[in-house]
Amino acid sequence: MIAFEFNNPTKLIFGRGTLDALKSEVPKYGNKVLFLYGGGSIKRSGLYDNVMTLLNEIGAEVTEQGGVEPNPRLSTVHKGVELCKSNGIELILAVGGGSVLDCAKAIAVGAKYDGDMWDFLERKAAPQAALPLGTVLTMAATGSEMNGGSVITNEVTQEKMGWGSPYAYPAFSILDPAHTFSLPKDQTVYGMVDIMSHVLEHYFHSESNTPVQDGFCETILRTVIETAPKLIEDLENFELRSTIMYCGTMALNGVLNMGMTGDWATHNIEHAVSAVYDIPHGGGLAILFPNWMKHNQNVDIARFKRLAIQVFGIDPSGKSDEQVGVEGIEALRTFWNSIGAPSRLSDYDIDASQIEVMADKALRFGPFGNFNKLNKEDVVEIYNMSL
Ligand code: NZQ
Ligand code: ZN
Repeated sequence: MIAFEFNNPTKLIFGRGTLDALKSEVPKYGNKVLFLYGGGSIKRSGLYDNVMTLLNEIGAEVTEQGGVEPNPRLSTVHKGVELCKSNGIELILAVGGGSVLDCAKAIAVGAKYDGDMWDFLERKAAPQAALPLGTVLTMAATGSEMNGGSVITNEVTQEKMGWGSPYAYPAFSILDPAHTFSLPKDQTVYGMVDIMSHVLEHYFHSESNTPVQDGFCETILRTVIETAPKLIEDLENFELRSTIMYCGTMALNGVLNMGMTGDWATHNIEHAVSAVYDIPHGGGLAILFPNWMKHNQNVDIARFKRLAIQVFGIDPSGKSDEQVGVEGIEALRTFWNSIGAPSRLSDYDIDASQIEVMADKALRFGPFGNFNKLNKEDVVEIYNMSL
C-alpha cells in the first residue's frame, strides 16, 4: 500500500422517497438556484415537476438550464457560467446522469473564475473556488455523484478531457433508485459497463499488500455480474436498481483505491473515441477494455489469473497461468456481449480512418497508464484490435 489521505465531503442521501431532502438541503446554501438538467428525460418521468414543486415550496428563486448533452459540451458550460454570474446563483442543482452532473461541476468552478474554465482542462490553471452543488442522480454509471471528477467535450477542437478538483465534489447527492426506473435498457447496460470498468481500472494496479482493496473490487464486479442479467429483464425492480446504484457510487468515490493507484488508460483511450465520434462512454469501454487487457496481459499474469478465478470462477486446474488469464478476459467479453454491450468499433460504424487522430488526442499529455505506460504504438494497436 502507498501512503494516502482520504476525504470525501459529499453527503449521500440514498433510498426511496429521498427527494424530499431538497427541502432541508437547498436552504443551507442559499435561495438562488440554477436547476440544470439534460435532454428531457426528467420531464417525461415526472421528476422535473417533483423537483420544481419542492423548490417552490421552500420559496427558491429558480433559474433553469435544460439541454445538457450526453458528453456535455463546453458551450453549454459557458452558458451555465453566464447564467450563474448574471443571476447571482448560490447553488447549482443538477438533476440527471453523469453528463448533467459533470457539466454542473464545470459551471460551478467556472462561475468563480475570471477566465475560461477550459484552462482547467488544459492544466493551465487549477480551480480555487466553486459554487456549491447538489445533485439528484437518474442514472447509475459514472460515480460523479460522489467524486470531484468531470469530463467535458470541447466541440470546436473535438477534445474530450477529464479534470478534477477538491472543489468539485457535490455538497449533497440524492440517490433514489426509483429515479432510474425510466432509464432504457441500452443506457442501463452502458452504465453497468462503466461501473465495472471503473472497478477494473482500480484493480489493475502495481502495489503489493492490497488484500482488502482487491477483495472490495472483486465483490463489486461479482455483484454487477450477478445483478445485470436480472435487471435488464426487470428495469423497474427497486432492489436491483438499488444494488447497481450503490455499486456505481462505490466504484468511483475514492474508497476502492485507498493505498493504490489504478491504471485509467482505457478511459483515456475511450474519451478520444467519443471526442471524435460522440458515442456513449460505456459502449466505448465495452469495446476497448478487453483489448487493453489482451495487450497488457504479460505485464502481470498473476493479476489476470486472479481476476479470472475470483470474479469469473474459471477453474485453473491443468491450465497455464496465461491460459487462465485469457479465459478471464474472454469471460468478460462474453458477459458484456450477453447483456447487449457492443464489442467492436464497427458496431458504431467506426473504421480505421481516424485511428491516428484519436491516438494523438489520447496522447495529448504524453504516454499514460499506471499499470503499464502506453505510447502511441500501443494505443494504435489497441484501436486496431477493436475495429
Ligand atoms: O439527457 P437526458 O434526457 O436526461 O437523457 C439521458 C441521456 O440521453 C439519459 N438518461 C439519464 N437518466 C435517465 C435517462 N433516460 C431516462 N431515464 C433516466 N432516469 O441517458 C442518456 C445518457 O446520460 P449521460 O448522463 O450522458 O450518461 P452517463 O451517466 O453515463 O454519463 C456519461 C458522461 O460521464 C463521463 C463520460 O465520459 C460521459 O461524458 N464520465 C464521468 C466520470 C466522472 N465524473 O467521474 C467518470 C466516467 O468514467 C465518465 O468518463
Ligand atoms: Zn467511466
